[in-house]
Amino acid sequence: MNLAVFASGRGSNFQAILRAIDDGRLSARVTLVLSNRSDAGALEIARARGIPAVHCSRKSFGSDSEFVTGMLAHLTDHRCDAIALAGYMKHVPAEVVAAYRNRITNIHPALLPAFGGAGMYGHHVHEAVYASGAKFSGATVHLVDEEYDRGPILLQEAVALDAEDTPDSIAAKVLTVEHRIYPIALQALAEGRIDIQGQRAWIRL
Ligand code: GRF
Repeated sequence: MNLAVFASGRGSNFQAILRAIDDGRLSARVTLVLSNRSDAGALEIARARGIPAVHCSRKSFGSDSEFVTGMLAHLTDHRCDAIALAGYMKHVPAEVVAAYRNRITNIHPALLPAFGGAGMYGHHVHEAVYASGAKFSGATVHLVDEEYDRGPILLQEAVALDAEDTPDSIAAKVLTVEHRIYPIALQALAEGRIDIQGQRAWIRL
């Protein structure tokens, strides 16, 4: 499976994907890393590995349709079969979702549907979990559709929280889970072990 990775930041989930590929836990090749930020750490990681790394931002194009055409051209040029959003902070255009239906995944740092949707990204998620007094948090891998954080859930893992936890410690616990479960879900995608039933999906482990 030729995988595109979309990232906006440091790229720790991208690194976890590369480790899984190197270890033989993920039968895929990352053929493209795309970021809306020219200074994204994920682009540096890609370049160091000789993986094509492109900056593709709406701001660099004259219109939405030119941006979509540009993004689709990168995906086609690098023969991408699937897209893994890994700390990607932008909305995926509906035309790209349609072109890669049920082949775009995202890792969300909470147990969706809780603590998801607009504004629920990065540290904001952990601050909201902390403020809620929830006894568990965790990470969710889901398929991407036209709405933020709404597509069918593929895999989740919970972490227990305690009275000493802070938003930062919650973030650290959840990030460890993200790095563990994302490659597992991507391997299921690579091996065609995902059953989709409407808004629900299950991985055949
Ligand atoms: C992670 O918490 C991830 O869940 C969210 O973006 C954050 C940064 O990801 N989607 P990364 O370290 O850049 O992979």
